[in-house]
Amino acid sequence: MQNLAESKQKVLVIGLGYVGVPLMKSILESNNFLVSGFDVSSEVIDLLSQDSGEFKGVDLKELNSYGPNFFSDTTKLTDYDVFIICVPTPLLDGGPDLSMICKSGELIAKIIKRGALVILESTSYPGTTEDVLLPIIEKSKLNAGSDFFLAFGSERIDPGNTDFGIRNTPKVVGGIEKISTDKAVEFYSNFINEITVAKGTREAELSKLLENTYRSVNIALVNELAMVCHELGIDVWDTIRCASTKPFGFHTFYPGPGVGGHCIPIDPIYLSKYVSKKLNKNFELINLSHKINSNMPYYVLGRVKELLKLSNKNIENSKILIIGASYKSDISDTRESPILGIVKCFVENKGNFTIHDSNVVELKVESEVFKIEKELPQNLVDFDLILVLQHNSDLDMKKIVTSGVTILDTRGKIQEAKKL
Ligand SMILES: NC(=O)c1ccc[n+]([C@@H]2O[C@H](COP(=O)([O-])OP(=O)(O)OC[C@H]3O[C@@H](n4cnc5c(N)ncnc54)[C@H](O)[C@@H]3O)[C@@H](O)[C@H]2O)c1
Repeated sequence: MQNLAESKQKVLVIGLGYVGVPLMKSILESNNFLVSGFDVSSEVIDLLSQDSGEFKGVDLKELNSYGPNFFSDTTKLTDYDVFIICVPTPLLDGGPDLSMICKSGELIAKIIKRGALVILESTSYPGTTEDVLLPIIEKSKLNAGSDFFLAFGSERIDPGNTDFGIRNTPKVVGGIEKISTDKAVEFYSNFINEITVAKGTREAELSKLLENTYRSVNIALVNELAMVCHELGIDVWDTIRCASTKPFGFHTFYPGPGVGGHCIPIDPIYLSKYVSKKLNKNFELINLSHKINSNMPYYVLGRVKELLKLSNKNIENSKILIIGASYKSDISDTRESPILGIVKCFVENKGNFTIHDSNVVELKVESEVFKIEKELPQNLVDFDLILVLQHNSDLDMKKIVTSGVTILDTRGKIQEAKKL
């Protein structure tokens, strides 16, 4: 008689980062699969194999209690029923770098067996699943749609969000044809409550880009509004508070020092590049929004200079405390964080600054590495200005507010502070 472990389907998650690790945990929690994780980085495997601490927001003790199998050695690969690709797609020449998706496809082509399901979760432009990944896997001599099944499953992970995790965030899935879609829906239904079926892979891929383009465009709108309001002497935060009471047709977005993370600053560019390549047209709204959001660090620098000037100081002879390095509160991820542009501006302007963030250890800006203070400095009065880029929940707000130092709060949350 077959034992329970033998009857379970085998899943391989390729790429163990912010997407792959929480996904592995969710699949393991369903208790329906034997799950392995492959990553090219042996350092990542060593970190994941520890029995305490966190990795990319996942508690390692909990993760390892399910008995997952992690490795970076390709000789350990066996046969799998499901492959999920979660490798990075960083910006390269204005589009996504697909080299890691291609390498994952080549790896799969070497070991794939008849009947397997392959799902791409990495974000990219429409057509990546069918035009790029499919032909690579078909080098296995198996045919897509009959010998193996292929789908795109859009990833919506929001690091640090305690209300919405993998299980209760609807998943958009589109296969290359109906059987592939059905197989992917059946797989995800083991650990996700609601699946939205897209017409095909392209619609699923584009829906992910639309979600982040929508955020980028709306954030650019309120960022520009903030800059205009400052000149007009109108409180943008109060304006937004009033508008947001409309119970229909208005979604609230707030200004800030820029956009960060792996999605909002990048995904719209994938879409814009795709449109210009395919149609030889500019996606004007995306390009303009990107320009406005990317200019925010320069605007913040201008506001810092303006505030220092009020007390006859300038950026070169002042000490500035920057609070918040990650792109959103209570996480350690600094990818594309607005602080990168702001530190660059400060360095170019010979600014003298200290950075505090309780979750981030250091910050790499171009080739320079900046140390980050875990604790809020003792003597805040030593600073000429406090620039708040991010509010972590453990931030000692009272100490900042009562210090008497001028505060510029780019998130508009501190009543007593100057705002954008
Ligand atoms: N981070 C997010 O919030 C988020 C949200 C939605 C979608 N995405 C998308 O998901 C994808 C993965 O993003 P992430 O944030 O998890 O990246 P990440 O950088 O956190 O992790 C990716 C991992 O893949 C590994 N890797 C690289 N090449 C590999 C290969 N050929 N084979 C196996 N492993 C390989 C890396 O070593 C790394 O550990 C990207 O396309 C991203 O745009 C990310």
